Amino acid sequence: MSTSAQLRSALVDRLTEDGSLSDPGWRGAAGAVPRELFTGTYFMSVAGSVPTSYRPVREGEPGWLEGVYSDATLITQLDGRIRPDDVTEGAVPGSPSSSSTLPSLVLRMWHQLDAEDGHRVLEIGTGTGYSTALGAYCLGDAGLTSIEYDPVVGGAAATALKAAGFAPRLIIGDGLRGDPDGGRYDRIVATCSVRYIPLPWLHQVRPGGKILVTLSGWSYANALALLDVTGPGEATGRFLPGYTSFMIARPHDRPPRPALALLPGDERPSRIDPAQLDDWTGGWVAQLAAPSAERMGAGAEQILWDVSTGSQARTAPDRDGGWTVVQRGPIRLWDQVERAVQRWQAVGGPHQEAFGITVSAAGQRVWLGTEDGPGWDLPI
Ligand SMILES: C[S@@+](CC[C@H](N)C(=O)[O-])C[C@H]1O[C@@H](n2cnc3c(N)ncnc32)[C@H](O)[C@@H]1O
Repeated sequence: MSTSAQLRSALVDRLTEDGSLSDPGWRGAAGAVPRELFTGTYFMSVAGSVPTSYRPVREGEPGWLEGVYSDATLITQLDGRIRPDDVTEGAVPGSPSSSSTLPSLVLRMWHQLDAEDGHRVLEIGTGTGYSTALGAYCLGDAGLTSIEYDPVVGGAAATALKAAGFAPRLIIGDGLRGDPDGGRYDRIVATCSVRYIPLPWLHQVRPGGKILVTLSGWSYANALALLDVTGPGEATGRFLPGYTSFMIARPHDRPPRPALALLPGDERPSRIDPAQLDDWTGGWVAQLAAPSAERMGAGAEQILWDVSTGSQARTAPDRDGGWTVVQRGPIRLWDQVERAVQRWQAVGGPHQEAFGITVSAAGQRVWLGTEDGPGWDLPI
Protein backbone atom coordinates (compact mmCIF):
# COMPACT_ATOMS: atom_id res chain seq x y z
CA MET A 1 0.00 0.00 0.00
CA SER A 2 1.32 3.44 -0.94
CA THR A 3 1.88 6.09 1.70
CA SER A 4 0.70 9.69 1.56
CA ALA A 5 4.20 10.90 0.64
CA GLN A 6 4.46 8.36 -2.21
CA LEU A 7 1.03 9.23 -3.61
CA ARG A 8 1.76 12.96 -3.32
CA SER A 9 5.04 12.60 -5.15
CA ALA A 10 3.32 10.52 -7.87
CA LEU A 11 0.68 13.27 -8.28
CA VAL A 12 3.41 15.91 -8.61
CA ASP A 13 5.13 13.77 -11.26
CA ARG A 14 1.88 13.34 -13.20
CA LEU A 15 1.09 17.06 -13.10
CA THR A 16 4.66 17.91 -14.13
CA GLU A 17 4.57 15.46 -17.03
CA ASP A 18 1.22 16.69 -18.37
CA GLY A 19 2.49 20.29 -18.24
CA SER A 20 0.10 21.59 -15.58
CA LEU A 21 2.86 22.11 -13.00
CA SER A 22 5.80 23.84 -14.65
CA ASP A 23 6.89 26.21 -11.88
CA PRO A 24 9.43 24.80 -9.37
CA GLY A 25 7.99 26.87 -6.50
CA TRP A 26 4.45 25.56 -6.95
CA ARG A 27 5.83 22.06 -7.55
CA GLY A 28 7.47 22.35 -4.13
CA ALA A 29 4.16 23.40 -2.57
CA ALA A 30 2.28 20.49 -4.18
CA GLY A 31 4.92 18.08 -2.90
CA ALA A 32 4.85 19.48 0.64
CA VAL A 33 1.18 19.99 1.54
CA PRO A 34 -0.63 16.82 2.69
CA ARG A 35 -4.06 17.17 1.05
CA GLU A 36 -5.63 14.54 3.34
CA LEU A 37 -5.35 16.94 6.29
CA PHE A 38 -7.79 19.23 4.45
CA THR A 39 -10.25 16.83 2.86
CA GLY A 40 -10.80 14.24 5.63
CA THR A 41 -13.87 12.23 4.67
CA TYR A 42 -15.19 13.45 1.33
CA PHE A 43 -18.14 12.81 -0.97
CA MET A 44 -18.03 10.84 -4.18
CA SER A 45 -20.87 11.01 -6.70
CA VAL A 46 -22.74 7.78 -7.36
CA ALA A 47 -22.37 6.94 -11.06
CA GLY A 48 -25.63 7.14 -12.99
CA SER A 49 -27.69 8.60 -10.12
CA VAL A 50 -30.40 11.13 -11.16
CA PRO A 51 -30.50 13.55 -9.44
CA THR A 52 -26.84 13.08 -8.60
CA SER A 53 -26.36 11.58 -5.15
CA TYR A 54 -23.20 11.38 -3.10
CA ARG A 55 -21.75 8.79 -0.75
CA PRO A 56 -19.11 9.52 1.85
CA VAL A 57 -15.63 8.09 1.31
CA ARG A 58 -14.40 7.70 4.85
CA GLU A 59 -10.93 8.35 6.09
CA GLY A 60 -9.07 5.05 6.08
CA GLU A 61 -11.44 3.06 3.84
CA PRO A 62 -9.87 1.36 0.78
CA GLY A 63 -9.30 3.91 -1.99
CA TRP A 64 -9.69 6.93 0.30
CA LEU A 65 -6.05 8.09 0.16
CA GLU A 66 -5.76 7.32 -3.58
CA GLY A 67 -8.85 9.55 -4.06
CA VAL A 68 -7.18 12.33 -2.06
CA TYR A 69 -4.21 12.22 -4.43
CA SER A 70 -6.25 12.03 -7.64
CA ASP A 71 -6.36 15.25 -9.61
CA ALA A 72 -10.05 15.64 -8.84
CA THR A 73 -12.30 18.03 -6.97
CA LEU A 74 -13.43 16.45 -3.70
CA ILE A 75 -16.84 17.61 -2.51
CA THR A 76 -16.90 18.27 1.23
CA GLN A 77 -20.32 19.87 1.76
CA LEU A 78 -23.78 19.67 0.13
CA ASP A 79 -26.60 22.23 0.22
CA GLY A 80 -24.66 24.54 2.53
CA ARG A 81 -25.00 22.18 5.50
CA ILE A 82 -24.47 18.42 4.89
CA ARG A 83 -20.93 17.28 5.62
CA PRO A 84 -19.73 13.78 4.64
CA ASP A 85 -19.60 12.64 8.27
CA ASP A 86 -23.30 13.54 8.67
CA VAL A 87 -24.23 10.73 6.26
CA THR A 88 -24.22 7.53 8.27
CA GLU A 89 -25.76 5.24 5.64
CA GLY A 90 -25.94 5.08 1.85
CA ALA A 91 -25.92 8.15 -0.41
CA VAL A 92 -27.76 11.48 -0.37
CA PRO A 93 -28.80 13.87 -3.17
CA GLY A 94 -27.68 17.49 -2.96
CA SER A 95 -25.93 20.38 -4.56
CA PRO A 96 -22.18 20.80 -3.84
CA SER A 97 -21.52 23.90 -1.72
CA SER A 98 -17.90 23.40 -0.66
CA SER A 99 -14.98 21.34 -1.90
CA SER A 100 -11.27 20.94 -2.28
CA THR A 101 -10.70 22.05 -5.87
CA LEU A 102 -8.63 19.78 -8.12
CA PRO A 103 -4.93 20.35 -7.40
CA SER A 104 -3.92 21.10 -11.01
CA LEU A 105 -6.43 23.96 -11.16
CA VAL A 106 -5.54 25.66 -7.87
CA LEU A 107 -1.82 25.34 -8.67
CA ARG A 108 -2.36 26.76 -12.15
CA MET A 109 -4.34 29.67 -10.69
CA TRP A 110 -1.67 30.46 -8.09
CA HIS A 111 0.85 30.46 -10.93
CA GLN A 112 -1.36 32.68 -13.17
CA LEU A 113 -1.87 35.12 -10.30
CA ASP A 114 1.84 35.89 -10.52
CA ALA A 115 2.17 37.00 -6.90
CA GLU A 116 5.68 37.90 -5.74
CA ASP A 117 7.45 37.84 -2.39
CA GLY A 118 6.16 40.70 -0.28
CA HIS A 119 2.82 40.93 -2.09
CA ARG A 120 -0.39 41.06 -0.07
CA VAL A 121 -2.83 38.46 -1.44
CA LEU A 122 -6.51 38.03 -0.64
CA GLU A 123 -8.13 34.67 -1.39
CA ILE A 124 -11.94 34.42 -1.55
CA GLY A 125 -13.38 30.97 -0.72
CA THR A 126 -11.09 29.23 1.78
CA GLY A 127 -13.10 26.00 1.46
CA THR A 128 -11.09 23.15 2.94
CA GLY A 129 -8.00 25.39 3.18
CA TYR A 130 -5.97 23.25 0.74
CA SER A 131 -5.42 26.05 -1.79
CA THR A 132 -4.72 28.45 1.10
CA ALA A 133 -2.02 26.07 2.37
CA LEU A 134 -0.40 25.90 -1.08
CA GLY A 135 -0.40 29.71 -1.20
CA ALA A 136 0.99 30.02 2.32
CA TYR A 137 3.76 27.53 1.52
CA CYS A 138 5.01 29.59 -1.42
CA LEU A 139 4.13 33.15 -0.44
CA GLY A 140 4.43 32.89 3.35
CA ASP A 141 1.71 33.33 5.98
CA ALA A 142 2.28 37.03 6.49
CA GLY A 143 0.97 38.31 3.16
CA LEU A 144 -1.96 35.92 2.80
CA THR A 145 -5.55 36.45 3.96
CA SER A 146 -8.39 34.07 3.09
CA ILE A 147 -12.13 34.64 3.52
CA GLU A 148 -14.75 31.89 3.84
CA TYR A 149 -18.50 32.54 3.92
CA ASP A 150 -19.53 29.42 5.80
CA PRO A 151 -18.46 29.40 9.47
CA VAL A 152 -18.44 25.60 9.79
CA VAL A 153 -16.33 25.21 6.64
CA GLY A 154 -14.05 28.06 7.72
CA GLY A 155 -13.63 26.55 11.20
CA ALA A 156 -12.58 23.19 9.75
CA ALA A 157 -10.12 24.94 7.39
CA ALA A 158 -8.59 26.86 10.32
CA THR A 159 -8.03 23.59 12.21
CA ALA A 160 -6.51 21.89 9.16
CA LEU A 161 -4.21 24.81 8.34
CA LYS A 162 -2.93 24.85 11.91
CA ALA A 163 -2.37 21.08 11.84
CA ALA A 164 -0.38 21.48 8.62
CA GLY A 165 1.75 24.21 10.18
CA PHE A 166 0.36 27.27 8.37
CA ALA A 167 -0.97 30.49 9.91
CA PRO A 168 -2.38 32.84 7.26
CA ARG A 169 -4.97 35.40 8.36
CA LEU A 170 -8.45 33.82 8.13
CA ILE A 171 -11.77 35.63 8.04
CA ILE A 172 -15.32 34.29 8.19
CA GLY A 173 -17.57 36.53 6.16
CA ASP A 174 -18.79 37.50 2.73
CA GLY A 175 -15.68 37.74 0.56
CA LEU A 176 -17.63 39.71 -2.04
CA ARG A 177 -17.38 42.64 0.36
CA GLY A 178 -13.60 42.31 0.44
CA ASP A 179 -11.54 42.49 3.62
CA PRO A 180 -13.00 45.37 5.63
CA ASP A 181 -9.86 45.81 7.76
CA GLY A 182 -7.32 44.75 5.21
CA GLY A 183 -6.28 47.91 3.36
CA ARG A 184 -4.77 47.61 -0.08
CA TYR A 185 -3.89 44.26 -1.65
CA ASP A 186 -1.69 43.43 -4.62
CA ARG A 187 -3.77 40.43 -5.71
CA ILE A 188 -7.23 38.91 -5.27
CA VAL A 189 -7.84 35.29 -6.26
CA ALA A 190 -11.30 33.73 -5.97
CA THR A 191 -12.06 30.02 -5.81
CA CYS A 192 -15.77 30.68 -6.01
CA SER A 193 -17.28 32.29 -9.11
CA VAL A 194 -19.17 35.58 -9.44
CA ARG A 195 -21.83 37.05 -11.78
CA TYR A 196 -19.94 40.35 -11.90
CA ILE A 197 -16.81 41.79 -10.31
CA PRO A 198 -17.71 42.90 -6.77
CA LEU A 199 -17.13 46.65 -6.48
CA PRO A 200 -15.22 46.44 -3.14
CA TRP A 201 -12.51 44.34 -4.86
CA LEU A 202 -11.91 47.12 -7.36
CA HIS A 203 -11.03 49.51 -4.56
CA GLN A 204 -9.20 46.97 -2.42
CA VAL A 205 -6.61 46.07 -5.07
CA ARG A 206 -4.05 48.79 -5.76
CA PRO A 207 -3.78 50.15 -9.30
CA GLY A 208 -1.34 47.83 -11.06
CA GLY A 209 -2.60 44.86 -9.05
CA LYS A 210 -4.50 41.85 -10.43
CA ILE A 211 -7.76 39.98 -9.85
CA LEU A 212 -8.13 36.34 -10.95
CA VAL A 213 -11.73 35.18 -10.86
CA THR A 214 -14.20 32.95 -12.68
CA LEU A 215 -17.26 34.71 -14.08
CA SER A 216 -20.33 32.53 -13.98
CA GLY A 217 -24.07 32.96 -13.83
CA TRP A 218 -27.43 31.33 -13.47
CA SER A 219 -27.02 29.06 -16.50
CA TYR A 220 -23.96 27.25 -15.09
CA ALA A 221 -21.50 28.64 -17.68
CA ASN A 222 -18.05 29.74 -16.47
CA ALA A 223 -15.02 31.65 -17.76
CA LEU A 224 -11.77 32.45 -15.95
CA ALA A 225 -10.67 36.11 -16.21
CA LEU A 226 -7.43 37.83 -15.26
CA LEU A 227 -7.99 41.54 -14.70
CA ASP A 228 -5.47 44.35 -14.26
CA VAL A 229 -6.71 47.03 -11.90
CA THR A 230 -6.10 50.28 -13.76
CA GLY A 231 -7.40 52.76 -11.18
CA PRO A 232 -9.76 52.92 -8.21
CA GLY A 233 -12.94 51.15 -9.34
CA GLU A 234 -11.49 50.37 -12.77
CA ALA A 235 -10.06 47.24 -14.35
CA THR A 236 -9.60 45.57 -17.67
CA GLY A 237 -8.72 42.00 -18.54
CA ARG A 238 -8.89 38.99 -20.79
CA PHE A 239 -10.37 35.55 -20.41
CA LEU A 240 -7.86 32.74 -20.15
CA PRO A 241 -7.45 29.46 -22.06
CA GLY A 242 -8.90 26.26 -20.68
CA TYR A 243 -12.18 25.19 -19.11
CA THR A 244 -12.38 26.45 -15.53
CA SER A 245 -15.52 26.30 -13.42
CA PHE A 246 -16.23 27.02 -9.76
CA MET A 247 -19.31 26.92 -7.57
CA ILE A 248 -20.96 30.33 -7.55
CA ALA A 249 -20.43 32.68 -4.58
CA ARG A 250 -23.37 32.15 -2.28
CA PRO A 251 -24.76 35.73 -2.48
CA HIS A 252 -24.67 35.51 -6.31
CA ASP A 253 -26.52 32.20 -6.53
CA ARG A 254 -29.67 31.81 -8.63
CA PRO A 255 -32.97 32.58 -6.89
CA PRO A 256 -35.10 29.68 -5.70
CA ARG A 257 -37.66 28.64 -8.31
CA PRO A 258 -40.85 26.61 -8.30
CA ALA A 259 -41.22 23.38 -10.29
CA LEU A 260 -40.89 24.02 -14.02
CA ALA A 261 -44.17 24.62 -15.82
CA LEU A 262 -43.86 25.25 -19.56
CA LEU A 263 -46.47 27.74 -20.71
CA PRO A 264 -47.73 28.67 -24.19
CA GLY A 265 -46.25 31.62 -26.11
CA ASP A 266 -45.36 32.98 -29.55
CA GLU A 267 -43.79 30.47 -31.91
CA ARG A 268 -41.32 31.11 -34.75
CA PRO A 269 -38.39 29.33 -36.43
CA SER A 270 -35.06 29.58 -34.59
CA ARG A 271 -32.23 31.18 -36.56
CA ILE A 272 -29.57 29.20 -34.71
CA ASP A 273 -29.07 25.56 -33.86
CA PRO A 274 -30.04 25.42 -30.15
CA ALA A 275 -27.34 22.76 -29.60
CA GLN A 276 -24.75 25.56 -29.89
CA LEU A 277 -25.64 26.35 -26.27
CA ASP A 278 -24.11 23.01 -25.26
CA ASP A 279 -20.71 24.23 -26.46
CA TRP A 280 -18.52 25.53 -23.58
CA THR A 281 -18.25 29.04 -25.03
CA GLY A 282 -21.65 28.97 -26.79
CA GLY A 283 -23.42 28.38 -23.47
CA TRP A 284 -21.42 31.19 -21.90
CA VAL A 285 -22.30 33.61 -24.71
CA ALA A 286 -25.97 32.70 -24.19
CA GLN A 287 -25.61 33.37 -20.48
CA LEU A 288 -24.02 36.78 -21.20
CA ALA A 289 -26.94 37.63 -23.47
CA ALA A 290 -29.67 36.47 -21.06
CA PRO A 291 -28.16 36.79 -17.57
CA SER A 292 -31.49 36.78 -15.75
CA ALA A 293 -32.37 33.33 -17.09
CA GLU A 294 -31.56 29.84 -15.91
CA ARG A 295 -30.91 27.38 -18.72
CA MET A 296 -32.26 23.85 -18.65
CA GLY A 297 -32.54 21.19 -21.32
CA ALA A 298 -29.97 20.23 -23.93
CA GLY A 299 -29.38 19.75 -27.64
CA ALA A 300 -32.31 20.88 -29.78
CA GLU A 301 -34.53 21.18 -26.70
CA GLN A 302 -33.28 24.13 -24.68
CA ILE A 303 -35.31 25.90 -22.00
CA LEU A 304 -34.58 29.39 -20.67
CA TRP A 305 -36.54 30.68 -17.72
CA ASP A 306 -36.37 34.07 -16.02
CA VAL A 307 -38.21 33.43 -12.77
CA SER A 308 -38.53 37.09 -11.75
CA THR A 309 -40.52 38.12 -14.87
CA GLY A 310 -41.92 34.72 -15.83
CA SER A 311 -40.25 35.01 -19.25
CA GLN A 312 -39.61 31.67 -20.94
CA ALA A 313 -38.14 30.39 -24.17
CA ARG A 314 -38.05 26.81 -25.34
CA THR A 315 -36.79 25.26 -28.53
CA ALA A 316 -37.66 22.02 -30.32
CA PRO A 317 -36.70 20.36 -33.59
CA ASP A 318 -39.19 20.86 -36.43
CA ARG A 319 -40.17 18.44 -39.20
CA ASP A 320 -37.95 20.09 -41.83
CA GLY A 321 -34.69 19.60 -39.96
CA GLY A 322 -34.77 23.08 -38.40
CA TRP A 323 -35.94 24.27 -34.99
CA THR A 324 -38.83 26.26 -33.55
CA VAL A 325 -38.77 28.49 -30.50
CA VAL A 326 -41.70 29.40 -28.26
CA GLN A 327 -41.27 32.61 -26.24
CA ARG A 328 -43.45 34.31 -23.68
CA GLY A 329 -43.13 37.13 -21.17
CA PRO A 330 -41.63 40.64 -21.22
CA ILE A 331 -38.05 39.48 -21.94
CA ARG A 332 -37.60 37.78 -25.31
CA LEU A 333 -34.85 35.53 -24.05
CA TRP A 334 -34.27 33.63 -27.28
CA ASP A 335 -34.07 36.85 -29.35
CA GLN A 336 -31.22 37.99 -27.07
CA VAL A 337 -29.43 34.63 -27.13
CA GLU A 338 -29.85 34.21 -30.87
CA ARG A 339 -28.34 37.63 -31.66
CA ALA A 340 -25.36 37.00 -29.38
CA VAL A 341 -24.67 33.50 -30.72
CA GLN A 342 -24.88 34.80 -34.30
CA ARG A 343 -22.33 37.54 -33.53
CA TRP A 344 -20.02 34.99 -31.95
CA GLN A 345 -20.49 32.61 -34.88
CA ALA A 346 -19.84 35.43 -37.38
CA VAL A 347 -16.23 35.57 -36.19
CA GLY A 348 -15.81 31.80 -36.22
CA GLY A 349 -17.16 30.85 -32.77
CA PRO A 350 -13.86 31.27 -30.90
CA HIS A 351 -13.07 30.05 -27.38
CA GLN A 352 -13.43 32.46 -24.42
CA GLU A 353 -9.80 33.54 -24.90
CA ALA A 354 -11.08 35.83 -27.67
CA PHE A 355 -13.11 37.82 -25.11
CA GLY A 356 -12.15 40.56 -22.67
CA ILE A 357 -13.75 42.55 -19.89
CA THR A 358 -13.78 46.23 -18.96
CA VAL A 359 -14.96 47.49 -15.60
CA SER A 360 -15.50 51.15 -14.73
CA ALA A 361 -17.94 53.44 -12.97
CA ALA A 362 -20.02 53.22 -16.15
CA GLY A 363 -20.58 49.48 -15.71
CA GLN A 364 -19.05 46.09 -16.48
CA ARG A 365 -18.89 44.86 -20.04
CA VAL A 366 -17.63 41.64 -21.59
CA TRP A 367 -16.55 42.17 -25.19
CA LEU A 368 -15.55 40.03 -28.11
CA GLY A 369 -12.24 40.74 -29.86
CA THR A 370 -11.56 44.34 -28.86
CA GLU A 371 -13.05 46.78 -26.37
CA ASP A 372 -15.11 48.42 -29.11
CA GLY A 373 -16.34 45.05 -30.44
CA PRO A 374 -19.70 43.43 -29.71
CA GLY A 375 -20.30 43.31 -25.96
CA TRP A 376 -22.70 42.43 -23.19
CA ASP A 377 -23.27 44.27 -19.91
CA LEU A 378 -22.93 42.20 -16.75
CA PRO A 379 -25.91 42.24 -14.37
CA ILE A 380 -24.50 44.42 -11.58
C1 LIG B 1 -14.65 25.53 -4.50
S1 LIG B 1 -14.72 25.89 -2.81
C2 LIG B 1 -13.12 26.49 -2.43
C3 LIG B 1 -12.02 25.53 -2.60
C4 LIG B 1 -10.82 25.84 -1.77
N1 LIG B 1 -10.10 26.97 -2.23
C5 LIG B 1 -9.97 24.62 -1.59
O1 LIG B 1 -8.96 24.46 -2.25
O2 LIG B 1 -10.34 23.80 -0.77
C6 LIG B 1 -15.63 27.40 -2.80
C7 LIG B 1 -15.79 27.98 -1.42
O3 LIG B 1 -16.23 29.32 -1.55
C8 LIG B 1 -17.05 29.60 -0.44
N2 LIG B 1 -17.82 30.82 -0.72
C9 LIG B 1 -18.98 30.93 -1.42
N3 LIG B 1 -19.37 32.22 -1.44
C10 LIG B 1 -18.45 32.93 -0.73
C11 LIG B 1 -18.33 34.30 -0.36
N4 LIG B 1 -19.22 35.19 -0.75
N5 LIG B 1 -17.25 34.65 0.40
C12 LIG B 1 -16.33 33.75 0.80
N6 LIG B 1 -16.41 32.43 0.50
C13 LIG B 1 -17.45 32.03 -0.26
C14 LIG B 1 -17.88 28.34 -0.30
O4 LIG B 1 -18.49 28.25 0.97
C15 LIG B 1 -16.84 27.27 -0.57
O5 LIG B 1 -16.26 26.84 0.61
